[in-house]
Amino acid sequence: MNKIRWTVIGAGGIADRRAIPALLEDDQNEIVAVMDRVESEAQRVAEKFGVPAYFTDAEEMLAAVPCDAVYIGTPVACHYEQAMTALKYGVHTFIEKPIAMTEAEGRRLLEAFQAAGKQLMIGYMMGYHNLHKKARELVQTGGLGTLNLVRMQFSCWYPEIAGAWRQKKSLGGGGCFMDLAVHCLDLFTTITGDSIADCCSYVANRTFSYETEDSAMLMFRSKQGVLGTIAVNFNIPDACAASKLEIYGTDGSLVAEGTMGQEERGSMRYVYSPQGSYEAQQSRTTAEPQVWQGGGENIYLKQFKDFNSLLTGGRPNYDNVEKSLAIQAICDRVYQNV
Ligand SMILES: NC(=O)c1ccc[n+]([C@@H]2O[C@H](COP(=O)([O-])OP(=O)(O)OC[C@H]3O[C@@H](n4cnc5c(N)ncnc54)[C@H](O)[C@@H]3O)[C@@H](O)[C@H]2O)c1
Repeated sequence: MNKIRWTVIGAGGIADRRAIPALLEDDQNEIVAVMDRVESEAQRVAEKFGVPAYFTDAEEMLAAVPCDAVYIGTPVACHYEQAMTALKYGVHTFIEKPIAMTEAEGRRLLEAFQAAGKQLMIGYMMGYHNLHKKARELVQTGGLGTLNLVRMQFSCWYPEIAGAWRQKKSLGGGGCFMDLAVHCLDLFTTITGDSIADCCSYVANRTFSYETEDSAMLMFRSKQGVLGTIAVNFNIPDACAASKLEIYGTDGSLVAEGTMGQEERGSMRYVYSPQGSYEAQQSRTTAEPQVWQGGGENIYLKQFKDFNSLLTGGRPNYDNVEKSLAIQAICDRVYQNV
């Protein structure tokens, strides 16, 4: 089979650290050109990965170098326009999360890609983590009974950094909610197959003076009636940070720690303990948990393999984009009164 010829828009950051190495780990892919608006970055990344051409203009690259797929790893404010440029050249497109600045902008992308019959996918890679897949399997086969509570917490330390796009509303669309909570929302839907029906939220700037929020909290009710919370912070030191996902049902619970991140790490505890009668003593003797560890595989590699299978499958599939739009609708709600 012919290789999939990729070009990259936005070569620094996550592209350099995770996406390009993952693409090149699969010999189904080749990268034929990279583009970054900073020439030295484009050149550095091209040399680092042996990519034959580099550019500082996306349209110039796409006009000059034929390709099958474009990877976009730029600030959120660039996603819409760059994906539309890719579509103009008739190429399938993979955009890093979140899809765009708003649901409406993302929906225009979906409609344009659907009309052209080209594949679009958004980089929500955490669903490919082996423990999140295990969680999905357990939840969806009734291993926790009826779900009643979901709690997620995800944070990092992100102080003021000159020029940081996540700290400017016009470039990132928002702060820690747009950056971190979107992963939690993706995992909620991926694991439970459910989605958010209603929510309320707080955002705050407690620690830093940048324009976007450094703290956010969402309380929600899902379509199936599950209640939950998502707490995300840019102002908790990395050494104290929690990446925690908890799901409780009538028959069991799952608690995953350290699984939300860029590596297939962490662990997950599963307790299955259906209880018929009320225990007045409340002695809470705990059932022995089953514990699983992260598999150590490359979740970005798995994500791109999935994208490639959509390209070779013949018909585009937009389920991941629909899910990304539902996530963006929640972001819109959180920011509507800010
Ligand atoms: N899935 C993940 O694990 C993950 C992790 C981090 C970031 N992201 C997402 O990836 C995207 C990029 O984030 P990042 O952390 O790599 O940012 P970054 O700032 O580290 O890197 C962005 C790169 O894009 C370049 N750039 C900026 N504007 C550009 C433009 N108009 N045209 C071309 N290049 C431009 C910058 O020079 C830089 O090299 C965002 O959507 C972010 O949310 C995803």
